[in-house]
Amino acid sequence: MINIAIDGPAGAGKSSVARAAAEKLGFIYVDTGALYRSIGVNAMRNGIAPDDRNGVISLLPSTKLELKYIDGVQRVFLGGDDISEEIRLPEASMAASNVSAIPEVREFLLDLQRDIAKNNNVIMDGRDIGTVILPDAQYKFFLTASAEVRAERRFKELKEKGIEVDYNQLLDEIIKRDYNDSHRETAPLKKADDAILIDSSDMTLEESIDAIIGKIKV
Ligand code: DC
Repeated sequence: MINIAIDGPAGAGKSSVARAAAEKLGFIYVDTGALYRSIGVNAMRNGIAPDDRNGVISLLPSTKLELKYIDGVQRVFLGGDDISEEIRLPEASMAASNVSAIPEVREFLLDLQRDIAKNNNVIMDGRDIGTVILPDAQYKFFLTASAEVRAERRFKELKEKGIEVDYNQLLDEIIKRDYNDSHRETAPLKKADDAILIDSSDMTLEESIDAIIGKIKV
């Protein structure tokens, strides 16, 4: 199986790039952020604060999380419930960042991610794919962009969906999430030594896709 890892901070364009590249290559696109978002949503649904470590851990044994690929599109199911839309709400982003710092949560999600990569050709995006989840991936990329460019992109994306948010608040949240994600003890956001660095600040989406596709020989 061919495994391609794409890591990087929130809003760098990982999901758009990975989705497009997966389609071109006929690979499955695995969005691992959806898993952490689901654990965050599960906590909130159960009235547990996502930064309440023991509370979040106590829910794990009864958590049934599944990824399904329907016409190549990933859907996430929690206890049989399709929560693919709910996990995109802004509060789910912060909840995901909080629960993702809990080592037990990362451990809980490890096999699920590795099993998909073992059985399929995948482009998997996340924060620790090249460093922890798939250290032997044939291709590794670290896609980044400045915080301002990323906030701008997220702002436009949400606006197109009819969700009004304050740009400065988005920028603050991105900076805070970057800090959380890269300073946690377990599997922090970090470029793998053998990953190719791509800064997309001055690139269009097409240019970022080409930069990645151009490196892959299948
Ligand atoms: O990529 P995203 O915005 O959907 O990710 C949501 C949060 O989950 C983000 O703050 C970091 C965390 N995450 C992680 O720790 N490891 C991953 N492989 C993917 C996401």
